[in-house]
Amino acid sequence: MSSAAPTNIAGQKHALPSYLNADHLGPWGIYLQQVDRVTPYLGSLARWVETLKRPKRAMIVDVPIELDNGTIAHFEGYRVQHNLSRGPGKGGVRFHQDVTLSEVMALSAWMSVKNAAVNVPYGGAKGGIRVDPRTLSHAELERLTRRYTSEINIIIGPSKDIPAPDVNTNAQVMAWMMDTYSMNSGSTATGVVTGKPISLGGSLGRHEATGRGVFVVGSEAARNIGLEIKGARVAVQGFGNVGAVAAKLFHEAGAKVVAVQDHRTTLFDPAGLDVPAMMEYASHSGTIEGFRGEVLRTEQFWEVDCDILIPAALEGQITVQNAPKITAKLVIEGANGPTTPQADDILRERNILVCPDVIANAGGVTVSYFEWVQDFSSFFWTEEEINQRLVRIMQEAFRAIWQVAQDNKVTLRTAAFIVACTRILQAREMRGLYP
Ligand SMILES: NC(=O)c1ccc[n+]([C@@H]2O[C@H](COP(=O)([O-])OP(=O)(O)OC[C@H]3O[C@@H](n4cnc5c(N)ncnc54)[C@H](O)[C@@H]3O)[C@@H](O)[C@H]2O)c1
Repeated sequence: MSSAAPTNIAGQKHALPSYLNADHLGPWGIYLQQVDRVTPYLGSLARWVETLKRPKRAMIVDVPIELDNGTIAHFEGYRVQHNLSRGPGKGGVRFHQDVTLSEVMALSAWMSVKNAAVNVPYGGAKGGIRVDPRTLSHAELERLTRRYTSEINIIIGPSKDIPAPDVNTNAQVMAWMMDTYSMNSGSTATGVVTGKPISLGGSLGRHEATGRGVFVVGSEAARNIGLEIKGARVAVQGFGNVGAVAAKLFHEAGAKVVAVQDHRTTLFDPAGLDVPAMMEYASHSGTIEGFRGEVLRTEQFWEVDCDILIPAALEGQITVQNAPKITAKLVIEGANGPTTPQADDILRERNILVCPDVIANAGGVTVSYFEWVQDFSSFFWTEEEINQRLVRIMQEAFRAIWQVAQDNKVTLRTAAFIVACTRILQAREMRGLYP
């Protein structure tokens, strides 16, 4: 074990489960650093902080399926429940060839923090299968999803742990998960997953919810630093569910979306790109490549003159290399974990305000919460009601975190962790240790 592994007062190595390699902690290592940063602000609750440094439950399952060509393939699947002190687990399922236990653990922990930061009554969980779904047929993908759901069946459920879509999973995958769980339990349980098709108990407004949350939180932050949205220049990385909706809402509010990058190209127009037309274009072509606008080199994206930067694609995009070149006054994290801790420090030193992922992209889980509530009562709300409630929750959450940041003179990320970890550990303390 590396010397970086923490020790307790008895000198005993702890906080690092034996199934992790201390020298290759991956995203879990980043999460542990974030917990260390918040610990000094937890007061007497710091006594419970070890709770946050290990998942409550980590399940690894073998997922065998018969491929269309008759061979049998085995895939590694995970479901991690990081913390359930405040309610059932909640978090997405990712299908990706690079998924690891460390990554799923970190994502589950960030869900604990996110759910507590916006004060929805959930713990944090996450799942994944180590597979490149593009190599599977539709039928193979269905078999994989159903077998995985069956394997994790004993720990999920509407009042235990509620999965949702994440990278490379969608409403169809959620429909298969819901059906498999329902078949195994003998009755239809729509509330076992969120992000379902509308016809199967999904919620209006869910598709736009994360991008809308990015806009709401971003607008609050902009107001606080005296930045007018009307006329502001916005650069967006990622033009998918999160990035495109956020770009559209900023465009509608009078901002100029001057640069957009996706996995194929980077487009720039200082007068503002035509976002609605670009969305229409991307919905057919699957990319913005070929749409009108000046084409930039990939790395030039980070140097574009702008007021607001929205990373809404992948993890680890804002790094020590590009953080010194960013011109924006405000960064709104649509993606999960887009800024490395070192880059975070550079942005802080440069007085660039960062709205962290755990609050900025929490709109998705907030409307997932609405979906779950609607499923329980079998009574569905209008899109207007959903959007109004979403805006209220996001604004209240942001304002509370802003105040904590001001009071403690810390970044919004640390403030969000203070608010969230305090709520989680208060719940832990009040519940007490069983037995
Ligand atoms: N969808 C949600 O509700 C939700 C909620 C919370 C967080 N997130 C996070 O937001 C991020 C984006 O999710 P999404 O649902 O919009 O995904 P998506 O698949 O709909 O879109 C991803 C976008 O990123 C682009 N992209 C991929 N690789 C890129 C690269 N190397 N450089 C530039 N662009 C690249 C793709 O072209 C695409 O436009 C992820 O980090 C996800 O975990 C999503």
